[in-house]
Amino acid sequence: MAQDSSRPDFWDTRYAAGVTPWDARCVPPMLAAWVAAQAARLRGARVLIPGCGSGYEVRCFAEAGCEVLAIDFSDAALAAARRELGDLGHLVRKADFFGFEDDATPFDVIYERALLCALPRGQWPDWGRRVAALLAPGGLLAGFYYFDDNVRGPPFGINATALEALLATAFDRLEDSIVPDEQCLPVFAGKERWQVWRRRASL
Ligand SMILES: C[S@@+](CC[C@H](N)C(=O)[O-])C[C@H]1O[C@@H](n2cnc3c(N)ncnc32)[C@H](O)[C@@H]1O
Repeated sequence: MAQDSSRPDFWDTRYAAGVTPWDARCVPPMLAAWVAAQAARLRGARVLIPGCGSGYEVRCFAEAGCEVLAIDFSDAALAAARRELGDLGHLVRKADFFGFEDDATPFDVIYERALLCALPRGQWPDWGRRVAALLAPGGLLAGFYYFDDNVRGPPFGINATALEALLATAFDRLEDSIVPDEQCLPVFAGKERWQVWRRRASL
């Protein structure tokens, strides 16, 4: 199997082989609760789901009245998402997070799950700059982060200091909580945090 997780073939081979230990097979409960709590704010919001994989969350945001764009650069991941989403498959598009352009920019919300920890650590500063550039002032970066001090990945673990270094110049953190073990997949158990960051008015 391909070994460089910055390349689409790494993910293609794993989705094609059904080796997807990160795949929740559902909408994470903490996201579902947040979407319900933010119902008024989310109606009509432009939401980006980068590195969407199977894309379970697309329907959750769409049913909340959001304008959703989900992207992934792996054909096999996109095929899985389209199978999962059926009539909402048109909301998923092949694109590289670091290079795509879209009329919907800037977004009001970016949803993060297992993209940052999928990227080699050398790409993390680019990820931080990219989420800041793609979000409107006041926009929200909401999602899940894998906290660990492991060396090899993916998943590549982060810690609070390193995540702040990526985001603190452009964002204020609004929420931070541990994900209960019973809501985690084995690969993330005890090491997953839910966080929401708000993009500042100026960069
Ligand atoms: C660990 S999987 C997570 C998938 C999904 N977010 C989930 O929670 O199940 C990482 C995903 O990010 C995608 N990905 C990695 N780098 C990407 C990039 N630069 N642009 C778009 N997608 C990317 C991969 O193809 C893969 O589907």
